[in-house]
Amino acid sequence: MTQSLLSLNGISRTTLESLFSLARALKKSPQKPEFLGQTAALMFFEPSTRTRLSFESACYRAGLGPLVFQAGAGTSMEKGETPEDTLANVAAMRPSVLIVRGDDDLPMLQLAQDFKIPFINAGWGCQGHPTQALLDVLTLQERRKVDGLKVVFVGDLRHSRVAASHLQIWPLFRGEVRFCGPASLLPEKPEVACFDTIDEALKWADVVITLRYQFERYDADEPRSAADHALQTEVRAKFALTRAHLARLPETTLILHPGPVNHGVELDTEVYRDRRSLILDQVSHGVWLREALLRMMLKGELK
Ligand code: CP
Repeated sequence: MTQSLLSLNGISRTTLESLFSLARALKKSPQKPEFLGQTAALMFFEPSTRTRLSFESACYRAGLGPLVFQAGAGTSMEKGETPEDTLANVAAMRPSVLIVRGDDDLPMLQLAQDFKIPFINAGWGCQGHPTQALLDVLTLQERRKVDGLKVVFVGDLRHSRVAASHLQIWPLFRGEVRFCGPASLLPEKPEVACFDTIDEALKWADVVITLRYQFERYDADEPRSAADHALQTEVRAKFALTRAHLARLPETTLILHPGPVNHGVELDTEVYRDRRSLILDQVSHGVWLREALLRMMLKGELK
């Protein structure tokens, strides 16, 4: 059966523990490049820094040759080629794995089924970002026992594929997830309890995951500047994690952000640099987690 990671639905705790255990081993010492002579196609139809480069790094460490496609200038999309055709053509080159980022219109599930090549969702519109959720839990495990943690997401929940993937994973750890953000940026029907202000959220949470406001995804019909200005004022007053919060934040509270960070909007630079912030640890763990995923997937070990 073709191994793929399109979402975290149905993944078992045993598989997660195997994945995390291999990632931790890779962190301690590099292992031999197992897949020399094979390629991995990194197909990015939306911008990326962390995910693309960490997958690329993971490929080199595992011995896979990365074929990196970033949509835009210099590709045949400039001549009108669609993402679906682009993917079909690269799939025809028979890479060992397709690692794909795209917007909500990309029919990722159908494409993964059609190509019969291992397929990894590297961020799909607002729907899911499974490797980000996995690396977040791996990062937290380095600091705390993760079972039963209380995790609050603060910011733009409506557009957060990271939060969507976390909702799929925390039940396996008996963790509780809650949301906190402007009413206009909560999901229409939130699956979890929501806080009205970050101050309430911080009193409850063991882990605070701050999120960027994804202005690029907002309705194109809205009068942008006025809407954005009002929203930014509300964000700073009620939902930003500021340096003023740091003094009253418990020592054990951990701060995450999937990146990219907009300093002075969803969080302050002092928070980014605080000892409780794991933001750059997340990035480091992204390489080991993704390398472990590639190694297990290509050996058919992802159950
Ligand atoms: N966290 C994350 O997906 O970052 P990039 O968009 O830079 O890949």
